[in-house]
Amino acid sequence: MREAIVLVGGEGTRLRPLTLTTPKPLLPVAGVPLLAHQFARLRDAGIERVVLATSYRADLFDRDFAAGFQGMNIVCATEPSPMGTGGAIAHAGVMLSSAADDPVIVLNGDVLSGHDVRAQLRRHTDADADVTLHLVQVSDPRRFGCVPTNAQGRVTDFLEKMDNPVTDQINAGCYVLRRSVIDDIPTDRPVSVERETFPGLLRSGALVEGYLESAYWLDLGTPAAYLQGSHDLVTGVLHSSALTGPIGESLLLSDAAIDPTAVIADGSVIGQRSSVAATAWVHDSVVMDSVVIGEGTHIQRSLIGAGCFIGANCVLRDVVLGDATTLAAGAHFESQRIWRDDDTGDLVVEAL
Ligand code: GDD
Ligand code: MG
Repeated sequence: MREAIVLVGGEGTRLRPLTLTTPKPLLPVAGVPLLAHQFARLRDAGIERVVLATSYRADLFDRDFAAGFQGMNIVCATEPSPMGTGGAIAHAGVMLSSAADDPVIVLNGDVLSGHDVRAQLRRHTDADADVTLHLVQVSDPRRFGCVPTNAQGRVTDFLEKMDNPVTDQINAGCYVLRRSVIDDIPTDRPVSVERETFPGLLRSGALVEGYLESAYWLDLGTPAAYLQGSHDLVTGVLHSSALTGPIGESLLLSDAAIDPTAVIADGSVIGQRSSVAATAWVHDSVVMDSVVIGEGTHIQRSLIGAGCFIGANCVLRDVVLGDATTLAAGAHFESQRIWRDDDTGDLVVEAL
């Protein structure tokens, strides 16, 4: 049986306040959780069983996916405390049924990718590699794992987040690992797969292959990237078999009530049961479920959490608004994250 591990235990700090209530892989992207797009991609590649490596807000993953995904079996391996990316792989690995030499796919839980997972798997088995890393080229590699290869495509180094990257080729967060490689990672302490496991394998002479493919690729870790990913799925730049509605200029989910004089444009999503009043406009934004947007309000490049109430004639640009936040009529915010403090009830505003 073909198996995969998906890493979903991170706290998603760069997407706060949305991730205070919802872990990043469960945030809606074009109407379904980000994770559903990855599950669909794994299922399309023939994966039958997924072990979800959970930590932060683990109960929510169980709630949403314990019944599986379109026939794919899903089980959760919850770390007692965060074990790091490598520790999480090792901890989840105990639940695999694959044999020692079988290839297991490991995915970072926050990436949207259009690459050919089957071709990566083929590359791995053809080379009889220990590890095969999906690599992409990006204009600014400093935020990623920098991965140089030789002329044959064999990985020569793994340099996580360096200031002076030696190549524009980066780790895209989709690995094929020989099962026995997973079994060799310690389970009794936190381990970084990027800073410890991969460099260690290279030092010991293991065969680590690079699979370079320049298909659509995006890490959704920041507000701007999240908006971009949602926009690209809504408008059809990236296809996903997890999408439930047609592609187009915008996506209106079920029971969204849009006044005929309101404008929803530039790949925006309006969530279930949300309403947009007369002459309001929403551009290049994600509005989650059960949100009320008042008359004449303008929202641009913003992420609006579920259950928010935004009064009339507000202006929000480059804003991340936490779930269930109320903004009075006429409010004006730009480049800020805003949420309601649970204890004091006060509005908290931070620069983005
Ligand atoms: N279960 C578990 N436990 N999961 C974790 C933990 C943990 O302790 N720590 C992180 N994760 C998960 C996150 O939820 C995420 O899905 C994935 O591991 C990667 O963590 P990020 O925090 O998103 O890392 P990054 O984006 O800075 O860097 C990683 O991804 C880049 C590509 O998007 C690295 O793998 C880089 O090398 C890579 O280039
Ligand atoms: Mg990430």
